[in-house]
Amino acid sequence: MKPKNCLIFGASGQIGRNLIRGLTQKNLKVTAVTRNLHQKGYILKTQANPGYLDIVETNIFDSDKIENLIKKAEVCINLVGILYEKGSNNFKNIHEKFPSMISSLCHKHKINKFIHLSALGIENANDSKYAASKLNGEIVVRKNFKDAIILKPSIIYSVDDNFTTMLMGLLNLSPFFPLYYDGKTKFMPLHCTDICNLIFDLIENDIDDKIIECIGPEELTFKQIIEKLLKLIEKKRFFVPIPIFVANIMATFLQMLPKPLITRDQIKLLFYDNIPSGKYKTNVDIGKQFGLNFEEEVEKYCYMWKETGEYAKKKNVS
Ligand SMILES: NC(=O)c1ccc[n+]([C@@H]2O[C@H](COP(=O)([O-])OP(=O)(O)OC[C@H]3O[C@@H](n4cnc5c(N)ncnc54)[C@H](OP(=O)(O)O)[C@@H]3O)[C@@H](O)[C@H]2O)c1
Repeated sequence: MKPKNCLIFGASGQIGRNLIRGLTQKNLKVTAVTRNLHQKGYILKTQANPGYLDIVETNIFDSDKIENLIKKAEVCINLVGILYEKGSNNFKNIHEKFPSMISSLCHKHKINKFIHLSALGIENANDSKYAASKLNGEIVVRKNFKDAIILKPSIIYSVDDNFTTMLMGLLNLSPFFPLYYDGKTKFMPLHCTDICNLIFDLIENDIDDKIIECIGPEELTFKQIIEKLLKLIEKKRFFVPIPIFVANIMATFLQMLPKPLITRDQIKLLFYDNIPSGKYKTNVDIGKQFGLNFEEEVEKYCYMWKETGEYAKKKNVS
């Protein structure tokens, strides 16, 4: 039987790379789209069995080229997303205009399945530009492709992430750690493997619920996440609660960095819990409980931030 062709936008990111590995191992063919083959080609090429992966370099707004790719696909997965804006790489273009374009092309060419990655905890965060654009993205996708599957994950972690790895890097460097909103914002972190397995499941099987909120097995506050990371890298740090007006001043400068550590928009977003809205079913409700445990999984790669690296002996840090 001819393998299904899955077209993935945003394939070089954390989820994309893990997904290419998973899908190609399961004999699905992947066409991975990237903006820059020279920068991302190596990462992408090493993720798949020979013959199962094609890589295409294109501007995602080149509608003719994108239409030609969509014509040849059975499944289309949109993983393109940004956390901060830089010029025309802004929330409106990336989270609204691009999903709108591909969802209508997928509808036009009668693609079998269209899977779109949005985010959890954005329903009430109407003062955040990121949240508003992700929400508008969901609306245009549903309007253009009625049966699109929209996944709304809480924070996703793995050795390839920009979350635990970045936090452990910061915790390693500084004796102080800033806490916004007293670190009380709630998250339900999920492992990248779990969401990739869910995507594979959704490609292979039909489901009734088209919008799914994706959560890991534990609810943790931001402070609890930091405490777990500190325990894993065997460090003690002072938590410094930061008033929001001070956080905003800091973010005004930090968001000017080429890869901002935090932006003013992210500070707004952090005010809102990243937990199910109650409006949609979760992966648990549809019988797909994610089993991977945050501390156990991060322990597998946290050694890089321990004092003596992979040969560090366990200390009792309480
Ligand atoms: N990771 C999380 O914790 C999390 C949580 C909730 C929702 N999500 C959503 O899940 C999706 C995938 O997340 P991820 O963690 O895999 O993201 P990621 O690692 O940041 O990767 C994002 C991808 O977007 C692509 N991209 C960004 N700007 C682009 C542009 N202007 N043109 C073309 N491509 C562009 C990049 O592709 P190239 O550089 O190769 O072109 C990259 O592969 C995103 O929509 C994200 O918002 C993620």
